[in-house]
Amino acid sequence: MTPLVDGFGRVADDLRVSVTDRCNFRCTYCMPAGGLEWLPRSEVLTFEEITRIVGVFVGLGVRTVRLTGGEPLLRRDLHELVAQLSAAGVNDMSMTTNGFLLAAKAEALAAAGLRRINVSVDSLLRHRFAAMTRRDAFDAVMEGLRAAERAGMAPVKLNCVVIRGTNDDEIVDFARFARTTGYEARFIEYMPLDADEGWQRDQVVPSEEVLATVDRAYPLVATGTGIEPAQVYRFADGAPGSVGVIPSVTAPFCASCNRVRITADGQFRTCLFSLGETDLRGMLRAGAGDGEIAEAIRHAVAGKWAGHAIGAAGFTRPERSMSMIGG
Ligand code: 5AD
Ligand code: SF4
Repeated sequence: MTPLVDGFGRVADDLRVSVTDRCNFRCTYCMPAGGLEWLPRSEVLTFEEITRIVGVFVGLGVRTVRLTGGEPLLRRDLHELVAQLSAAGVNDMSMTTNGFLLAAKAEALAAAGLRRINVSVDSLLRHRFAAMTRRDAFDAVMEGLRAAERAGMAPVKLNCVVIRGTNDDEIVDFARFARTTGYEARFIEYMPLDADEGWQRDQVVPSEEVLATVDRAYPLVATGTGIEPAQVYRFADGAPGSVGVIPSVTAPFCASCNRVRITADGQFRTCLFSLGETDLRGMLRAGAGDGEIAEAIRHAVAGKWAGHAIGAAGFTRPERSMSMIGG
C-alpha cells in the first residue's frame, strides 16, 4: 500500500473528522451572534458512514483521527462512534471539544478508546469566558477538564485563541494554570475563519510574543517534538504542565502539514482554507465501493496546494467558517 502523498511530498496521515456542525457555544472568533443555520440531519453522515469512510483512510495509512465539530459532544452516543472507529483500526483517537458536556461523558469516551482531549478555554475569568463564548459555562468546562483527567485522558490540553485586546492579558495566568494542573496550555493565533469576518491582522498576537511573555514569568525549555504544528515547551524549574504555541498565521506550518479533514456532511477537504471539496458522502450514498472512494481521496490529496496565504494580497477566505469545517 502506498501512503497518501501530495504533490509536495507531504504524507497525509492525520485525519480530522467533524461529527456535527452544531454547537452550543457561539465563540466570537468562530460564529456570528445569531448562530448559523445547521445542516439538515439527513445531510450529516451517520456513524456507519463515518466509520466506513474512516476505514478507507485507515487502508490508506491514516492512524490518527481527531473528532471535531461544531461541538462533537452534541452528537448523541458519541462513545459508540469512538468504539466503532477503534474497531476499524484507528489507534490514536483524540477530540477537540468546548468541554461543556464533558463531565458526564468523559468516562464512557475513554472506555471506548478516546485517549486524548483538547478543550477550548479562551479565558480563566468567568465573565470574560462568557463574553467570548457567548455562554456562561466556565464552571461546567472546568468540571469537564477534571473529569477527562480522572478518566485517564492524557495529556489534557487547553486551546486558547489569543486575541489582542481581548484575552492577551491572561497569557501568564494560563501558564500558571498549566503548572498547577499539569495540563498543556496551547496558544493559537487568531485566524481569519470567524463567521462574522471581523478578523483584523492587528488582533493576532504572534506566538513569539506569547512565548516571550511566559518566559519572563516562568522560563521555558523547548521540547523536541517537532512533528506537530504546535511547538511545545516545558518549565525550566521542573514544574508539571507545559505550554504550546500554534503560529498558524505568523509561521504557517503548511510546508509540513499532514492534515486532511472531513466535514460533518461528508466533504473531504485537504486544507482548512481549501476552496474546493470532494463529495465523499455523495459517492457513498450513490453506492461507490471502497476502491473508488480511496481513488477519489488519493486524487484530492495529490492536488493539495502548497499552503494558505493569509498574508498575501490574493488571499480568499473559505466559504465555511471554523465551526463548519472543524478545528
Ligand atoms: N482562529 C483560530 N482558531 C480557531 N478555532 C476556531 N476558530 C478559530 C479562529 N478563528 C479553533 C480553536 C477552538 C477550536 C474548536 O477551533 O482552537 O478551540
Ligand atoms: Fe463552538 Fe468551537 Fe466554534 Fe466555539 S469555536 S462556537 S465551541 S465550534
